[in-house]
Amino acid sequence: MTATARLTLDPAFRIAPVEPRLFGSFVEHMGRCVYTGVFEPGHPLADADGFRTDVLELTRELGVTLVRYPGGNFVSNYRWEDGVGPVRERPARLDLAWRSLEGNAFGLNEFMAWAAKAGVEPMMALNLGTRGVAEALELVEYANYPGGTRLSDLRRAHGADKPHDVRLWCLGNELDGPWQMGHKTALEYGRLAAETARALKRFDRDLSLVACGSSNSGMPTFGAWEAETLEATYDMVDYISLHAYYDPSDGDADSFLASGADMDHMIRSIAATADHVGAKLRSRKKIKLSFDEWNVWYQSRFHGESSLEWAEHPRLIEDDYDVTDAVVVGSLLITLLRNADRVGVACQAQLANVIAPIRTEPGGPAWRQTIFHPFALTARYARGEVLRVEPECAAITTGKYGEVPAVWATATHREATGEITLFAVNRDRHGPCALDVALPAGLVAVEHLELADDDPSARNSAADPARVVPRPGTGLRVESRRATLTLPPASWTIVRFAPQE
Ligand code: AHR
Repeated sequence: MTATARLTLDPAFRIAPVEPRLFGSFVEHMGRCVYTGVFEPGHPLADADGFRTDVLELTRELGVTLVRYPGGNFVSNYRWEDGVGPVRERPARLDLAWRSLEGNAFGLNEFMAWAAKAGVEPMMALNLGTRGVAEALELVEYANYPGGTRLSDLRRAHGADKPHDVRLWCLGNELDGPWQMGHKTALEYGRLAAETARALKRFDRDLSLVACGSSNSGMPTFGAWEAETLEATYDMVDYISLHAYYDPSDGDADSFLASGADMDHMIRSIAATADHVGAKLRSRKKIKLSFDEWNVWYQSRFHGESSLEWAEHPRLIEDDYDVTDAVVVGSLLITLLRNADRVGVACQAQLANVIAPIRTEPGGPAWRQTIFHPFALTARYARGEVLRVEPECAAITTGKYGEVPAVWATATHREATGEITLFAVNRDRHGPCALDVALPAGLVAVEHLELADDDPSARNSAADPARVVPRPGTGLRVESRRATLTLPPASWTIVRFAPQE
C-alpha cells in the first residue's frame, strides 16, 4: 500500500522572511576550486581577467548570492598580502592546510572583481590561526578604507580605486580542530576573537562578524566550545558558525537520506546554546547562525591532509554526485529554510570542483553536477516568507538518528504575488508517498518538477552532463483548496502554486 502524507500551506503561519544570504557558496584556495575552477587564464572561455565565463554563467544560474573566501583551512596559514600587487612579484608559498603550492596569482582584488562579475556578496575569512588582531585590522583597512592611509592607498595603487566595502567577516576558521594551523582552545580562541572583534568594530561598528563554532557536531567540545566562545564575544559578534558534511559512503542509506534531521538538530542545539549564554549575560541580543560550510562529502574516501603529496592545484575531493546526493542537498536546503528565523547565512561548500555543484576540466568544459539542480531551483523560487509546514506522515527508522518523518518539507509565500512554492523530500527509498496538500483558495499549479530516477546512483559527467536533471512530475491534481501528488521514492520535489488569472 502506498504511504500517505498530509500538510497544510497557510500564509498565516510564517516563520521569517527568506534571507538572500542563505544561498551562499564558498571559494577556497583548495584543489581546483580557484585555479582551473573559477580562474583559468588561457582557457578558451576566459575573460580578460582570466575568469572562466562558463563558470561565471553557471554561478549566476545557480543563484548564488554570497561567496565565502579564501578558506577554509587554507586561511589559517594565509598571508593576504601575498595575493595583492603585481602578479609577477607575488611569492609562491606552501599551503600547509592542503599540502599545496600556492602561486598567489589569484588574491583579494581578483576575488572582488570575480564576485562583482558573478553578482555575489563577498564574505571574507580572517586568519586567526597563525596571525592575529594587527593583521586582521590591516586587511580590513586595505579592503574597506576609502583612501588616504598607507594600506588604502596601496589598494588603490593595486588598481582597486574604490573600497571593496566587505560587510561580513569570519573571525577565523574551525579553530577548535587539531588539524587547523594555529588550533586553539576555546579560552584562547574566545579571547582572540573578542579582541579582534573589538578592534574591527572600532574601525566600523556596522561590520557583521562571525565567531567560529565547532568544526562539526562530532567534536568532543561541541556545544561547550560555542558557549565559551560566545561568553567571550557575545556583545561584539553577530553570528556563530556551524559546519556539517554528510557522507553517503558508509552504507547507511536511510540515515544519509535523513541528514536534514541531523542538521535541524544541530541548528536547534546551537541556537539553544547561544540563547543560554545570552540569558546568563542578561542580554536581549539574539546571536544568529552562519551555516557557512555544508554539503554532501564522500569524506571517508579522503585519507587526510597528511596523506597528500605536495602539488600545485591538485585534484582534491572532486566528488561525483548522484541522484540521492542531490535529494539530500535539497533536504538540507529545506532544513535551512525551516530555520530561517535563526540561520542568517549559509554557504554550500564549495563552488567549483571541490565537493562542488560545478565541475570543470582544465581547458575543457564546465558542467552541472546533480546537486546543482535543487540549489538552483530553491535559490530561484524560495522567495518572500517561509511558512511553517508540518507534514503528518509515517516515520522512517534510521541507524543514526532514530525515527524521522518520511516527508520533509517547507514552503515560501510571496505576499505581493500570492505565489506559494512547496519543497518536499520523500526520504523513503522503498516506496512512493501520496501527498495531500491543503491550500488557500484560488491557487493553481504552474510548475511541478522532481529529482528522482530509477537509478539513484546516476550521475552527470563531462560526456553526459544532462543525465540527471529535474523532470516534470506527473499526476498532480489541484481542485478546490486541495492538491494531490505522488512523491517518488528517495526524491526531491518542487511545486509552484500561483493565483488563477
Ligand atoms: O571545505 C573543505 C574543508 O572542510 C574546509 O577547508 C574546512 O573548513 C572544512 O573542514
